[in-house]
Amino acid sequence: MIDGAEAGGGTEYVSSNPARLDDVVARVALADTVTFRSACAAARQAQREWAQVPAPVRGQVVGAFGRLVAANKEALARLVTREVGKPRAEALGEVQEIIDTCEFFLGEGRRLYGQTVPSEMPDKQLFTYRVPVGVAVVVTAGNFPVAVPSWYLAPALLCGNAVVWKPAEYAAACARALCELAWRAGVPAGVLNLVFADGSTTYAGLAAALGDGLVDKVGFTGSTAVGRRIGELCGRFVQTPCLELGGKNPMVVAPDADLDLAVEAALFSGYGTAGQRCTSLGTVIAHEDVHAEFVRRFASVVASAPVGAPDADVVYGPMLDEKFARGFEETLGWIGDHHTVLGSSALGRIGTGSPRAGFVGDPSTGLYYHPVLLAGVRPTDKVFTEETFGPIVGVTSYRTLDEAIELANAPGYGLSSAVYTSDPRTAFRFRQGVSAGMVSVNNSTSGAEAHLPFGGNGKSGNGSRQSGVWVLDQFTRWQSMNWDFSGSLQKAQMDVAVIEPDLGYRLPE
Ligand code: UN1
Repeated sequence: MIDGAEAGGGTEYVSSNPARLDDVVARVALADTVTFRSACAAARQAQREWAQVPAPVRGQVVGAFGRLVAANKEALARLVTREVGKPRAEALGEVQEIIDTCEFFLGEGRRLYGQTVPSEMPDKQLFTYRVPVGVAVVVTAGNFPVAVPSWYLAPALLCGNAVVWKPAEYAAACARALCELAWRAGVPAGVLNLVFADGSTTYAGLAAALGDGLVDKVGFTGSTAVGRRIGELCGRFVQTPCLELGGKNPMVVAPDADLDLAVEAALFSGYGTAGQRCTSLGTVIAHEDVHAEFVRRFASVVASAPVGAPDADVVYGPMLDEKFARGFEETLGWIGDHHTVLGSSALGRIGTGSPRAGFVGDPSTGLYYHPVLLAGVRPTDKVFTEETFGPIVGVTSYRTLDEAIELANAPGYGLSSAVYTSDPRTAFRFRQGVSAGMVSVNNSTSGAEAHLPFGGNGKSGNGSRQSGVWVLDQFTRWQSMNWDFSGSLQKAQMDVAVIEPDLGYRLPE
């Protein structure tokens, strides 16, 4: 959808329900490079007028978007469940995250503050303004098919930018629905353009549009490997993208932790969304005094966790789509002889030949996988160093807090992290030492609130932050203005009044 018109043509992509593979959710045409570039040109055209709309009025549009999402919460959540297999409760939470985001940015329309700054000279005023960057190309993953896109769309639009959104094709229907709600809320057609394209076309289209000066900001949520390529491409055009990449999120369980609480969080953050969040738990780092007991309790809750049809009350449903199922199967190959697999009666796909006790529904219709709890993980293991993106959690042990922090940082990501402890010193020392952009104390690595800065360091991102006031720095640029009304040219640094101090003065002994 470019400037309100359907481009058509292109190869067809079929998005299907990962819980019932014969259920086709959407058929979409994938754009070619020329179409991708023309979406950016349309956005460039529409942005000029949008930037002239007063920010409080743009805020009203964002607010209406949030209200319209709220009015369609059930239907949108059902679509999320159907298209990417997210359990109902999580899908409702995901939609709520859009509403929260819009509520926040509705208010920002009446702030979007600049500053007045004192000048070093008389009869001169200094000011700062936030100005929109222009055209933002937003490329998102499908594990949060509507919430994470809203983290880009709401602030980008509020700040006066136009957007070209390239969602994950396996979440095409969700993307179309979200755009429909935005357009109906009053976002002009050319200000929000929706393009489906495969990875290489997106890259080529983006390169062409950047080359023609049609793009001012790129937002990307996805893998570290693709984020690197996008970062390199943007760097060539002297641009800094907003990169929200993978994670290998640690949870440290201190000897004084409430173990049941830690186990509950490990289950949710490790296996919720079938482990397919960027914030999903990677490795539990448990103190050697509680390691055995933690593993025993964790294994027992994983073994009895309800897995299955996502419209039921389950911990997790299917993998997002075939690509992620294949990726997870590859991950299972990283399991070595020194590991102990717990929490499951089998490895791999759940089916008639490989059943899971208590499975909810019919496993043969979808992309369902056994959960894996891996004890005996070592820092040199690939399952320790690499993101796994599936229902697998490793456990290792530590002796001193310094060692735990070193293990937490070792994989070189730095998105989210958690510590379970009842000692404030442990909590603060962990926060200080951990490289992650987000730290939870006695809470899950996943499930960040929508108005705190979200983002990571190292392989998790380039330091950009989304959400809350912090994302405004992604979608606006500071412009400073000085205004001299003295009637003469007052030169900074040179014509500044000096009050001579007596620096030699000392108090009497
Ligand atoms: C992601 O997986 O890309 O903090 C985002 C969380 C969610 C967002 C995850 N609110 O787990």
